[in-house]
Amino acid sequence: MTPSLAAHLSLTDINSLSVPNGALLDVGCGYGRDLALFRTFFPDMALHGVEPSQPAIALGSPVFQEIKLRNLYENDVFRNCWHVRRRERFDIIFANYFVHLFSDEESAEVFRILRAILKPHGALILSFVSTRDPHFGLGKHLGRGAYEVRQGMPWRFVNEQDVRSLAAASGLSIQILRPYTETELVADACDRVESLYVVANRDD
Ligand SMILES: C[S@@+](CC[C@H](N)C(=O)[O-])C[C@H]1O[C@@H](n2cnc3c(N)ncnc32)[C@H](O)[C@@H]1O
Repeated sequence: MTPSLAAHLSLTDINSLSVPNGALLDVGCGYGRDLALFRTFFPDMALHGVEPSQPAIALGSPVFQEIKLRNLYENDVFRNCWHVRRRERFDIIFANYFVHLFSDEESAEVFRILRAILKPHGALILSFVSTRDPHFGLGKHLGRGAYEVRQGMPWRFVNEQDVRSLAAASGLSIQILRPYTETELVADACDRVESLYVVANRDD
């Protein structure tokens, strides 16, 4: 199980928050490859995940047990108001290759939702697929910056300004915004994915 490069990059930023007993939420955590890395480096943190896909949850089930995942919210981040009902707040919210699944409007909503459940001193750590990625412009055009790069695989590509606008519109200040190159499985083959790594804090 190989953790994402974004998770590796985030270790220093999470450390600098100095919340060894804090709460970390991985949104769209899949089968938990990044949560497993966080458990190795942050043995006392309360780890939580959000994942609606039952196949991913089944695959991740032994991992979630082994790392003593505090909560797995088996919900779509937009639905069920899970965050409002439970009134959980997190020191760190991490989401690797999650926001690129959504349209402009949906991404803005994701930012608003995640900001609302971030503690005031907390950090939102995200990765995006960049407009510099070689898949940009391939496949059916679905809307601004969005293409169906393979059948049933809609990706929305962003540049630095898109990320700054999304953050500003939801009351978040960008602390770190930098490009990086990940090697990822894309349609069952290893491929280069040009990405953006982002750390943002609440403005208040
Ligand atoms: C590209 S995968 C990345 C998985 C994981 N972050 C990783 O890097 O291994 C995107 C994940 O987001 C989940 N997802 C899709 N839509 C979601 C939603 N509306 N709310 C929460 N998770 C969602 C998918 O089921 C999938 O596991």
